[in-house]
Amino acid sequence: MSSALVSYRRDGEIALVTVDNPPVNALAREVRAGLLNAIRQAEADTEVHATIILCAGRTFIAGADVSEFDQPPQEPHLPAVTQAIENALKPVVVALHGTALGGGFEIALASHYRIATATTKVGLPEVKLGVIPGAGGTQRLPRLVGLPTALQMISSGETITAERALEIGAIDEIAEGDLKTAAIAAARRLATPGAVPRRTGTLPVPSAPPEIFQEARRQASEKQRHLQAPLTAIEAVAAAASLSFDDGLRRERELFLERRASAQAAALRNAFLGEREVAKVPGLAADVRAREILQVAVLGAGTMGSGIAMCFANAGFSVLIKEVEALALERGMATIRKNYQASVSRGTLSPQDMLRRLECIRPTLDWQELADVDLVVEAVFEDLGVKRQVFEQLDAIAKPGAILATNTSYLDVAQIAEFTRRPQDVVGMHFFSPANVMRLLENVRTDRTAPDVLVTVMQLGKKLGKIAVLVGGCDGFVGNRMLAQRTREAWFLLEEGALPQQVDAALVDFGFPMGPFAVGDLAGLDIGWRNRKARAHLRKPGVRDCDLLDQVCQLGRLGQKTGAGWYRYESGKRTPLPDAAIEELIVEHSRARGIERRTIDDQEIVERCLFSMINEGAKILAEGVAARPVDVDIVWLNGYGFPPWRGGPLFYADQLGLGRVLATIENYCERFGPDFWTPAPLLQELVASGRTFYPRRLLPE
Ligand code: NAI
Repeated sequence: MSSALVSYRRDGEIALVTVDNPPVNALAREVRAGLLNAIRQAEADTEVHATIILCAGRTFIAGADVSEFDQPPQEPHLPAVTQAIENALKPVVVALHGTALGGGFEIALASHYRIATATTKVGLPEVKLGVIPGAGGTQRLPRLVGLPTALQMISSGETITAERALEIGAIDEIAEGDLKTAAIAAARRLATPGAVPRRTGTLPVPSAPPEIFQEARRQASEKQRHLQAPLTAIEAVAAAASLSFDDGLRRERELFLERRASAQAAALRNAFLGEREVAKVPGLAADVRAREILQVAVLGAGTMGSGIAMCFANAGFSVLIKEVEALALERGMATIRKNYQASVSRGTLSPQDMLRRLECIRPTLDWQELADVDLVVEAVFEDLGVKRQVFEQLDAIAKPGAILATNTSYLDVAQIAEFTRRPQDVVGMHFFSPANVMRLLENVRTDRTAPDVLVTVMQLGKKLGKIAVLVGGCDGFVGNRMLAQRTREAWFLLEEGALPQQVDAALVDFGFPMGPFAVGDLAGLDIGWRNRKARAHLRKPGVRDCDLLDQVCQLGRLGQKTGAGWYRYESGKRTPLPDAAIEELIVEHSRARGIERRTIDDQEIVERCLFSMINEGAKILAEGVAARPVDVDIVWLNGYGFPPWRGGPLFYADQLGLGRVLATIENYCERFGPDFWTPAPLLQELVASGRTFYPRRLLPE
């Protein structure tokens, strides 16, 4: 009676139940049903004395099936499966390998004996998706490992090694040799006639002082500020301490369903599913094959070039790094060595791996060396004249079919492509600073980029461990174009009456890890200053412009690296401290501009910084610069610290109600004029027809 995904086989008096649902044996409905049937079959089979649950492939059940996330739960529900396992009259042994997470680990907890390979990891990461374990995890784990450890594991969602799991009692044995052989031996040991399976649910919850819950809540509110699921998880574990097992299970289920339907869970699901969604490019035929990339060259060994070279070396590519002069090349290589050395000192990279990576990077000053490479990523000065020179040169040297990518932040990739006789091979690969750290990669297409080039750069993103989003050409692409809106409003708020620390606090309160002014100080204010100078000619006469950034930079205050920027810094420290000198400068600026300073509340700060971005996001969508709302949101979630539990700017707008967003934008348009606040036509259309950016089913009721 095997199902396609769960097979049932007998080995003497042992029933072997094998889940085979690649790639991660997710708990799809058919797997749940198959497990339930298999347990029933083993119970009914008089020849069987014990059952083993194990998985084919590279891992034990790694969690729920993400494709079911946004659908109503379907029977059989997981609690029915775990209960059937626990209630079985014959012992059930579970054999774990890979990652036994979420529902997978709950199945293990409900089994009567847990055995794992030494490299297995286990955990209940549900809070990371805005929910809590819903199939007994919060009731069974405390019975095995005690309340304090269970609280820690479930509220943090962290996974632990098999060794640690054994130490705390979450598993019973680490298999010495072959897992299945060890599991069969364990099952035979347990299957002695008359032996009663050890049911986790019947074990007492070890007592613990009641203050531990208060302490856990305090820690969760501090470390996982804004997140509701950790607090709910604590409540569910507390139920294990105060209620009977059955009542505890009921309470857990209630809390689970409540979290599952919450706005935060929907937002976190969007962030999680969106990362996978953006890899599928609409309109790109599935049979387009990527070009083979073995040899890579990076042009420019400055801030970006050195980081980009590291990205490729980290992924095992061989990289040439090309500069115009020896000094710049040596400086770039020194930066690379220093960065790797820092990782070694932190213990996150072994000295051998450092050497291996450094060996992948070969510095050169010679153009001819680029003749054989498969991909060039250009990261030279942001100047169209320089880019022209470089691309003409590349065109003359690179082999046919080589991909020529530019890391430009603002220049027109289509125009750069026209500097060559092979515009089909030219594409943007916009990395974020620091390139070896930031996960986002905006790949920029032009009308002429060949489909196989697009497929190649999207796949490369994955190989580099990045989240690649494909976008179209425009000023600033998706991320920086929206950021420009927020930056402008943040400056306007200063001249109207706010201070940097107030704007930053309001946005941190919203959920960003840092406010825009603290971020500016960290990155260096000269980046924005240089950019303002380069783009001064684009400014329209008579249109409001705030030059506070220029004034701050003119004082030599370039941010943390000069000890002062929008904030002041104590020597060697990174904590931004409000600075009276900046307040004075801002107040004087308002006076000189004839702007009467007023009290500005946090709501206005958040609305002006975010709704201006949402409005721009709608324009980006309408222009096709981003194919879908999720592309916009994934850019902001992974490149700019947008809080994942809000799902991204457009997801957040949907949750807030587009009618409200539009009405607010219209109101600001009346107050501040149409230059920056003209509502996006797409936003107006959506509101008029009662629609949202995302299909409605993704939103909580
Ligand atoms: P940078 O000034 O730190 O480095 C540029 C390097 O290119 C210099 O070392 C220079 O010697 C070298 N160079 C100039 N002409 C060259 C040539 N013909 N051949 C080889 N090397 C040459 O600049 P950064 O910040 O690394 O920016 C590079 C590019 O990356 C720009 O297009 C910029 O807009 C873009 N970008 C910068 C980001 C940032 O945060 N700094 C973020 C994302 C993109």
